[in-house]
Amino acid sequence: MQTEVDFLVIGSGIAGLSYALKVAQHGSVMLVTKSNADESNTKYAQGGIAAVFDAPDTYQKHVQDTLIAGDGLCKTEVVHTVVTEGSERVRELIAWGAAFDKTKDGTYDLAREGGHSEHRILHYKDVTGLEIERALLEKINAHPQIKLYTHLFAVDIITEHHLGQEINSQSENITCFGAYLLDTLTGKMQTVLARKTLMATGGAGHVYKTTTNPAIATGDGVAMVYRAKGAVNGMEFIQFHPTALYNPGQNPCFLISEAVRGFGAVLKTHNGHEFMQMYDDRKSLAPRDIVARAIDNEMKKSGIDYVYLDATHLPMNDFKVHFPNIYAKCKSLGIDVATQLIPVVPACHYMCGGITVDLNGCSTIKNLYAVGECASTGLHGANRLASNSLLEAVVFSHRAAMHAVNEFKQIGFENRVPKWNAEGTSQPNELVLITQNLNELQSLMSNYVGIVRTNQRLKRALDRLRIIYGETEALYGRTVVSQQLCELRNLITIAYLIVKQATARKVNVGLHYNSDNAIATNDAK
Ligand code: FAD
Ligand code: SIN
Repeated sequence: MQTEVDFLVIGSGIAGLSYALKVAQHGSVMLVTKSNADESNTKYAQGGIAAVFDAPDTYQKHVQDTLIAGDGLCKTEVVHTVVTEGSERVRELIAWGAAFDKTKDGTYDLAREGGHSEHRILHYKDVTGLEIERALLEKINAHPQIKLYTHLFAVDIITEHHLGQEINSQSENITCFGAYLLDTLTGKMQTVLARKTLMATGGAGHVYKTTTNPAIATGDGVAMVYRAKGAVNGMEFIQFHPTALYNPGQNPCFLISEAVRGFGAVLKTHNGHEFMQMYDDRKSLAPRDIVARAIDNEMKKSGIDYVYLDATHLPMNDFKVHFPNIYAKCKSLGIDVATQLIPVVPACHYMCGGITVDLNGCSTIKNLYAVGECASTGLHGANRLASNSLLEAVVFSHRAAMHAVNEFKQIGFENRVPKWNAEGTSQPNELVLITQNLNELQSLMSNYVGIVRTNQRLKRALDRLRIIYGETEALYGRTVVSQQLCELRNLITIAYLIVKQATARKVNVGLHYNSDNAIATNDAK
């Protein structure tokens, strides 16, 4: 089956949905997503969306906080753009129907998180992402120009490679003509030709054994673009959230929002002592890289797999109003937040790098945009400031949409694209091989490429990865394509990119910490 559409959007999180709503005013939109419509990292966002709304906050302060968290590697122009355009984009979300909590006097109830010098996080209780996703999907479903398809899995983007032309390096002229999509309910492959394609496939948390990300986060977009020889950067900067709830056996991990620390909760050791003052003056509200490394160190010192978050001194009625979901989750596990400490542990949370894009979200592949967590815009540098991710997604969706609607009419459909070639493949007889390789991959990434790395561990990871890669490629070559196998392949690519880019970075900066490296001086970053 072959379809032609003006705009193909891959992903139904905040990035894909907000872009789709904008381009749909100008042409036909096919919005595809591999799971249910709302399943995305967006849905689980807790803390909120950072934006400058009221004095005493200023754009300058938000810019400064973002630059400090990014540890010298943010692109200043991008930071200025996102911060100054962000408030308007958040107002647009509100106009589209997303609700954010207000105080009794009618102003927005702005929360604070690590690395922020002001209260500037708009939120809806502790389920902000769920509310944003709800509001956007309602608009999408009501839009006559948008067709939303669930359980449609993007396998690869279509480029000159599929026309039989050889592409040698990343810098060559490459064009995206659309994508091959697998209907995971029927097993049928579709060819979709598009004038403009948006990659909005989110993160890759499942490259590690423990993550806050839902199962969809398998780095598909980054892997597809890397296979198509588009540029990808910053993959060594994987953000571990300091405070996932310690609950062995539960994966994805439940998040204890940073906003809980912003509300006054403090990190403590097993002996009940605060420890963050030994690592940073900002204590429990230091940027995430610092807090996660401090916890990692405390866990290594004690030999215990978690530390504690203490909220017992906080006004509990207010706590329940602000964090009803977190309160209820703890209660369901027998933890009374009013009287007991919450066990927490760092877990893989966010991919700061990704598909290299410019200020309009254009990737290095023509007619292909990337927005949201799968993109690397330069906003986050070496470490993302909390709650800047939803903001980045809405600002860049807008910019990419404006760029795409200006150009799409001049672009024709490529008529030489062949159907998906399934020749020589058969049904796999041992699916367990995929699961085993996935487990192995996640273990090696958690053991060797976690919060603290060493040269020897990185090398060991690369050696092991080569074996898993070889086995999986061989399986892919002879097996009928399936979501499970594609995701494994994509995660292997993500792991490879993290290890390669981590190995290449010889100074420690932001989230990248290799104990064999020197600490970065400003020149060395
Ligand atoms: P996603 O929302 O992840 O959407 C990706 C979409 O792509 C999904 O629909 C997925 O199914 C689809 N997809 C993926 N691969 C394919 C494929 N091959 N084919 C078809 N479809 C595909 N950020 C903040 O700013 N503030 C917060 O408070 C916050 N809290 C968070 C809490 C949690 C628990 C988590 C996990 C993240 C949090 N983040 C937060 C980060 C933020 O939620 C994400 O970075 C952001 O939502 C990403 O949006 P996105 O649209 O890029 O991707
Ligand atoms: C949180 O609520 O702690 C998550 C915020 C974020 O990842 O930006």
